[in-house]
Amino acid sequence: MPGKSIFQSVGSFIRTRFQYIAVAVIAVGVGLDLVGGYATAVDYTSSLQFCAHTCHEMEKTVFEEYTHSKHYKNEQGVVVACAQCHVPQNNWPATFGHKFMATFELYNHFILGESDPAKFTPRRLELAKKVWAGFAATNARECKACHKYTNMLLEEQRPSIRAQHTDAMKTDENCLDCHKGITHKKFEDPSAAPAKAAGASDFDVQ
Ligand code: HEC
Ligand code: HEC
Ligand code: HEC
Repeated sequence: MPGKSIFQSVGSFIRTRFQYIAVAVIAVGVGLDLVGGYATAVDYTSSLQFCAHTCHEMEKTVFEEYTHSKHYKNEQGVVVACAQCHVPQNNWPATFGHKFMATFELYNHFILGESDPAKFTPRRLELAKKVWAGFAATNARECKACHKYTNMLLEEQRPSIRAQHTDAMKTDENCLDCHKGITHKKFEDPSAAPAKAAGASDFDVQ
């Protein structure tokens, strides 16, 4: 008998291992589906729409303040969405962890009834501290995804600002050391040293 053709070999390979192949195909299908569903869920929960309006308490507080900030309206018309600061960018494991943590916030929202602004407002400093700690842990990774010290036209900044940034660049300092409360209401953190840029308020949210 002449040697089997390649088609016969493949045919018998498939016949003898059909169950395994079927399982593998289904697994890949389910896997892709999960990834697709995950991506859609992340896109949806990261959108401005979801962030700002699903949680009623945010509409009148953090969202309202954001609309007066330079990250929402500026000469160039660039809009920075909530998620660009609050969700790790281009980092799948970190995003997954973050979304997981965020479900606890949703639990607070729906189960503990924090959708009431009267309950949300007193918690803001505590939440802001969590956000500050997050930025400290990543050395303001999300800010630096857009803003790079090395790309600043330092010579075009006012001398006082230029001096601060020239210094900050040397240690790749966390932007939040100096720029707290630029998108939302400014809080004084009683437990921390005052923000270095506090008082210089050209950019404060009105
Ligand atoms: C998606 C890109 C993006 C991200 C993320 C981002 N920014 Fe910006 N930022 C901009 C743009 C664009 C402007 C310019 C607005 C303008 O023309 O005034 C700006 C303006 C600023 C300004 C000057 C205006 C103001 O509000 O004081 C500061 C300070 C600043 N950003 C700091 C930060 C910090 C701190 C973070 C992280 C918490 C951050 N940015 C995250 C894009 C971004
Ligand atoms: C050591 C303190 C310090 C650090 C760290 C710092 N800044 Fe600033 N920055 C200032 C001060 C002070 C100003 C003056 C404006 C203000 O906040 O009132 C300023 C102004 C700015 C402006 C407006 C520039 C202009 O010419 O009007 C931008 C944009 C900015 N900072 C972005 C950043 C970003 C992004 C980071 C992190 C990569 C950062 N800064 C880190 C102190 C700092
Ligand atoms: C330019 C980056 C940036 C953008 C855009 C941004 N935030 Fe924030 N957010 C911060 C930082 C930084 C803090 C920590 C407190 C502070 O310094 O203002 C914070 C704090 C918060 C807090 C904690 C409570 C508080 O009052 O501080 C909530 C909730 C929040 N943001 C929600 C949102 C939502 C919703 C949006 C979009 C409508 C948004 N943020 C857009 C940077 C941003």
